[in-house]
Amino acid sequence: MNDETLQNYLHLFIKERPALIREIEEYAKENHVPIMDLLGMEHMLQFLRLIQPKKILELGAAIGYSSIRMVQELPDCQVVTIERNPPRIEKAKEYIAKTGSTHQITLIEGDALGAFELVQPHGGFDVIFIDAAKGQYKRFFELYEPLLNDDGVIISDNVLFHGEIFQTIENKRRRELVRKIKEYNEWIQSHPGYDTILFPIGDGVMVSRKKRKG
Ligand SMILES: C[S@@+](CC[C@H](N)C(=O)[O-])C[C@H]1O[C@@H](n2cnc3c(N)ncnc32)[C@H](O)[C@@H]1O
Repeated sequence: MNDETLQNYLHLFIKERPALIREIEEYAKENHVPIMDLLGMEHMLQFLRLIQPKKILELGAAIGYSSIRMVQELPDCQVVTIERNPPRIEKAKEYIAKTGSTHQITLIEGDALGAFELVQPHGGFDVIFIDAAKGQYKRFFELYEPLLNDDGVIISDNVLFHGEIFQTIENKRRRELVRKIKEYNEWIQSHPGYDTILFPIGDGVMVSRKKRKG
């Protein structure tokens, strides 16, 4: 079975989404906004249904798609999400309001690496979802993991980077980015405080669970 056959088969089981969600997906496609891969999204949502988090921190809101999908599945959950790109922030606000999610989503505007003081009052989080600048994952992890509850989970998206982590990359900037992603994957896999597994779904979804102390 090749990868394409498997991907096509898995896509057969993805359920229809509400019209507003489809509208956001269409907008993202037309405007080249990188939202989470559909299969990765469905797997993450299933995982969240199982663990029923009450508070999620998301780094990288883009236009609000993943935040909205998460709160629609988890009516008792609060999501704090951060985005630094002004046009995307405006679009995220629009979609959060349109989907009636304002009471569940707090959007922090600015760079996640400089927003700790704003995020801190919202901690502790049951889940931290890292989906912002790919070269900064280790810094995001180190900055925000003190706000993660015991038994909490860190989910990192795009850790296979379209398969580029297995390839020889000509472009110097891209090669450096891929190097950082690989370095992050290896670092987190050997982190003594976390049990980590990389799911080869979507663009690579890595789930790291904080180990219980003692
Ligand atoms: C892959 S997109 C997020 C997609 C979103 N989670 C979804 O699935 O709907 C990554 C976003 O992170 C934002 N971003 C990247 N680095 C950031 C940073 N340091 N602080 C805040 N936002 C950042 C980008 O502007 C971009 O919109």
